Amino acid sequence: MKELSIQTTQPYPIYFSKNLLNDSSFAEFLRQKKSRLAIITDSNLENSIAAQVVNYLRKHQMLVEIFSFPAGETNKTRETKQALEDHLCNKKFSRDTCIIAVGGGVVTDMAGFVAATYCRGVDVIYIPTSLLAMVDASIGGKTGVNTPYGKNLIGCFYQPKAVFIDIGFLKTLPEIEFKNGYVEILKHMLIADAALFAQQHIVDIEVLIFQSCAIKKHIVEQDEREQSLRALLNFGHTIGHAIEVLENYEIRHGEAVAIGIMLESYLSYRMDFLTRVDFDKIVTAVKAIKLPLATKAFQDREKFKIVLKMDKKSQAQQAKYVLLDAIGIPHNENGTYTMPVPEHILDEAFDWFEERLAK
Ligand code: GLY
Repeated sequence: MKELSIQTTQPYPIYFSKNLLNDSSFAEFLRQKKSRLAIITDSNLENSIAAQVVNYLRKHQMLVEIFSFPAGETNKTRETKQALEDHLCNKKFSRDTCIIAVGGGVVTDMAGFVAATYCRGVDVIYIPTSLLAMVDASIGGKTGVNTPYGKNLIGCFYQPKAVFIDIGFLKTLPEIEFKNGYVEILKHMLIADAALFAQQHIVDIEVLIFQSCAIKKHIVEQDEREQSLRALLNFGHTIGHAIEVLENYEIRHGEAVAIGIMLESYLSYRMDFLTRVDFDKIVTAVKAIKLPLATKAFQDREKFKIVLKMDKKSQAQQAKYVLLDAIGIPHNENGTYTMPVPEHILDEAFDWFEERLAK
């Protein structure tokens, strides 16, 4: 299997395969751990991919229990975490547990957070099944849950023991979910790889996934706990997360971030960092993904600005944004990658969106 090694304080491998469940190496990896296995998945996957993982493990003479929660970002809550913990306690799982997260970003964030605190920390392995989880959520150790106040407001950094990416799972992914994940690939190109951005339509999806993981690897290795450089991965997310909060998490993450990428690119252009040519290229690239680019979140701008200030990157009650100098080159101001923007420029960005794109 092709491999990337993530050199964080607890290094771990990402294995890339095309048919994980036809290969005994995953079972061998787990056998060496000598752990009690608990799959955490969601209601969309418990009878499909998660069931296939259970069958695979049983075929390899391994015992495994499966725990499922209702699918969707609206269920990435403290209440769901507690329910999963109670199930694990009921089944007498202890420190020798290895949680296997099978699912998209909601599942990996949730299972990672459960693993981080269960018995003060047990092993977790990710099997991402969505494009978004393959290129983003499963890498870098961010875990957590949402609250009505903010996205991922409660959580911690907790690195998995391994990530197993099976590109074959993408075959069953609905097209809308593929587009949802592609937004994070676009983000990675915009903050770090202009050449890949220029070639994205002639490059194979496997290469895009691998390169995207390599970009994220490079960033999290240098700044595991987001003291500086890692903030770059939030490009498009200050506005994107506020949209998600105001849409009660009923909008897809990729849709909210796609709008966030356009507006934060507009901010970069209006701050005189990004050229109009690059800004237009970014807008064209976002539109080409063909996600719905509609939100009612800007209807009450004052409310939107209050939610923006709840973002984790805010300082002294000021929302901060990752801005670009050019495609592939983030703006760095005095050694930091996030900065506030004047309110009138933010208002202009909302006007631009409403005039050109709001449906
Ligand atoms: N998804 C942003 C990060 O992992 O830092």
